[in-house]
Amino acid sequence: MNSTTKIAKMFALAALILTGLFFSLSAPAPEASAQSKQVQSAKTETPAAIFEDKDTLLRPEGYREWVFVGSSTGLNYMPNPAPASANADEDIKHVYINPSSYREFIKTGKFPEGTVMVLEIAEAARKNEAGLQGSFASKFIALEASVKDSKRFPGGWAYFGFTDREGRPLAKAKPFPDSACLSCHQQKAATDRVFTQFYPMLNAAHTK
Ligand code: HEC
Repeated sequence: MNSTTKIAKMFALAALILTGLFFSLSAPAPEASAQSKQVQSAKTETPAAIFEDKDTLLRPEGYREWVFVGSSTGLNYMPNPAPASANADEDIKHVYINPSSYREFIKTGKFPEGTVMVLEIAEAARKNEAGLQGSFASKFIALEASVKDSKRFPGGWAYFGFTDREGRPLAKAKPFPDSACLSCHQQKAATDRVFTQFYPMLNAAHTK
């Protein structure tokens, strides 16, 4: 073999190695790229609960795009319930959970740290229209939220209200005292202080 062929062979080999290297860098295996995308989205997903300081929660934004887990009307624990006829137009409540905590709960039956639940309250209204029966959620009148954060709150969960006494929306809130909210949730709620017994999708995951 003369030296020119030797050099040519060396070049060919180097080119082969470089091409291999290029392809392995530019075209990762499909599973690897799916994995790295997942890690990326987990990293870039903003937390559902945003605190201004140790315990002031900013009003949850975008919760209408979260997972809707339940609705109720006239549901509450009262020692002396009012007669049924007095409850004709009860408020209507809607409950949401942030999507990543929903997925985690469905998988494990546990609410991860950072879970946010939103309870939105609407006025029930009727339309005075020939032949139309029943009531519907019309105006939104209040917004409450709960957050699971054991590092910030000794009770594990804290409860917030985002509506002032005149019914105006609030941009941020301090937690309620445990006696106002946590005590009932601790006593009556089925799973980790959340009323999963009233949320069909969560209840199914919890009892399976
Ligand atoms: C006497 C019992 C009781 C008290 C006190 C109570 N709640 Fe609840 N809460 C409920 C019930 C029952 C539900 C189920 C959903 C519904 O009512 O539609 C609920 C649901 C919720 C939810 C939806 C997530 C979940 O945990 O199921 C939030 C958020 C919430 N309450 C916030 C509050 C806040 C804020 C307070 C205090 C101002 C409070 N609650 C006080 C009974 C209570």
